Amino acid sequence: MHPMLTIAVRAARKAGNLIAKNYETPDAVEASQKGANDFVTNVDRDAERQIIDIIRKSYPKHTVIGEECGELVGEDQDVQWVIDPLDGTANFIKRFPHFSVSIAVRIKGRTEVAVVYDPMRNELFTATRGQGAQLNGYRLRGTNAKDLEGTILATGFPFKAKQHAPAYINLVGKLFTQCADFRRTGSAALDLAYVAAGRVDGFFEIGLKPWDFAAGELLVRESGGLVTDFIGGHNHLNSGNVVAGNPRVVKALLSTIREELSEALKR
Ligand code: IPD
Ligand code: CA
Ligand code: CA
Ligand code: CA
Repeated sequence: MHPMLTIAVRAARKAGNLIAKNYETPDAVEASQKGANDFVTNVDRDAERQIIDIIRKSYPKHTVIGEECGELVGEDQDVQWVIDPLDGTANFIKRFPHFSVSIAVRIKGRTEVAVVYDPMRNELFTATRGQGAQLNGYRLRGTNAKDLEGTILATGFPFKAKQHAPAYINLVGKLFTQCADFRRTGSAALDLAYVAAGRVDGFFEIGLKPWDFAAGELLVRESGGLVTDFIGGHNHLNSGNVVAGNPRVVKALLSTIREELSEALKR
């Protein structure tokens, strides 16, 4: 196993155990608001601290980018650990048992290893660039859907940016006539892991942050899928507008996105 994947897995499991333990004791969870419809808890912060401690022990010079801590620039800026300590905080607060820990390592801008861990199901999704994606050690493959007919699509509502609500609802309406059904699970990292595992055929969301999709993107790629922005390019690293699935599903999603979304949202 890639040595950085070993550390990422150790950190994800440790944080996942902390999250699972706190899930059982809701009175110990303190939620506060970061912005409109945007919540954080003491568990998000504690999980992130545990992850960073584990990384720092092995790699004291690496740079860390975490949702709650921001960018901790290290002596070595070529290596960046991109962390979402708890993806699906709203689910966690509501005690809806679907959330994850997401950790990716980028070297000179290219993601090399990825972990998404679901502590409620003990499902560990891992990938190393060029070596495939695994779930608990078993090789993953996405679905082989040829177009959107019969597909199950995952998505996330733009709940922090409701100015996009009309455009988004319109797009979902159009896609709903082409696919079988939708899922909105509340963890973008798991949505991407589920694309890699073939549990859903495709995924799209407006305005994600790098830590939401850094690990999931490598999982999808290493399972044979594609991850792009809304015009089939790579600007999702800046815009957070993400489309994922096998190449044919991505093509079909992009064609409807192209027709329905305004220029402003297209990258
Ligand atoms: C959120 C989840 C959610 C997605 C949001 C993310 P958080 O992350 O991934 O599924 O729809 O866009 O912000 O805040 O729970 O880590
Ligand atoms: Ca958050
Ligand atoms: Ca997230
Ligand atoms: Ca988070």
